[in-house]
Amino acid sequence: MNHFLSLTGLLPDELNNLLDSATELQQSGEQVLFNKHVLFVFEKPSLRTVLGTEVAVNQLGGHVIHAKPEIMLSPGKNVEYSSRESVKDTIRNVSQWCDSIFARVYSHKTLTEMATVSPIPVVNALCETYHPMQAMADLLTIREYFGTDEKIALTFIGDANNVARSLFEGLLTLGHDVRFAGPDSCSWKPEEILYFEKLALSYGGQFTCSSRPEEVLPGAQVVYTDTFVSMGEEHLAAEKLGFFHGYQVDAAMMAQAEPEAVFMHCQPAHRGVEVTSEVLDAPCSLVMKQAFNRMVSAKGVFARLIADPWKSQAENQLATL
Ligand code: NVA
Repeated sequence: MNHFLSLTGLLPDELNNLLDSATELQQSGEQVLFNKHVLFVFEKPSLRTVLGTEVAVNQLGGHVIHAKPEIMLSPGKNVEYSSRESVKDTIRNVSQWCDSIFARVYSHKTLTEMATVSPIPVVNALCETYHPMQAMADLLTIREYFGTDEKIALTFIGDANNVARSLFEGLLTLGHDVRFAGPDSCSWKPEEILYFEKLALSYGGQFTCSSRPEEVLPGAQVVYTDTFVSMGEEHLAAEKLGFFHGYQVDAAMMAQAEPEAVFMHCQPAHRGVEVTSEVLDAPCSLVMKQAFNRMVSAKGVFARLIADPWKSQAENQLATL
């Protein structure tokens, strides 16, 4: 059984095939999900992930059903399953009617528990550790902007979190040069740095981790940031905003990158916090292209999982838990 919980373990060809397939489906309009149903379960708010993916499924001829999280998961954060019925029974029932589950959860463990017992593909719509569907849109945006074969240098300024983790896995698998700058208290653990370095070594890219933006900005063709306070961390807001003093992406920071550098952000963006309006609204900002590509890239993932189950030698790579 194939799931899409993270980009961990995907091979470059597999990643490129998903992106190729997304572009092809966008161009062809082929309705490969005719009469298929995707169940959306969201514990956290969403604009782009819900709407972009729902339009993607609709355009592929499929249908989306929204389940209240309390039907499948217990209410509240740091999920434990409801005592109403076991997760296995819930999912086995869902699989009688639906062809995939698209879930945004507080804890990655929730996804792995679902995937372990699910006969239908479970797709991660964001958890505290990964945001693979955002990464797919970002990889597609980078590929469209720079060309399929171009290896680029991307500098991420901000939090070592879900968006950055999935983006780095994807970029390093495709052989790009990834740089990160964030305060020590919100940076990568040593084992995560080793993991990124190993990916870089395997696929011909580079990984650099610093606490000083000025060390990793020169040569950057893309400057990327995410919110400093993620969903579920609101109680840490004051402390985290303190850590990130000096890490706002502004015109002066962009000026340290390549003259033609572009700006990217997964959104929601907090104007005047992690990025200035001047940068967010600048001609070099790709944020709306990223948002559009949330829809395009989702087509590749759902089509592959539902309509064309993975048949490569590395069949289990998609089932990374
Ligand atoms: N890191 C952010 C991403 C939002 C799309 C969060 O988890 O809230």
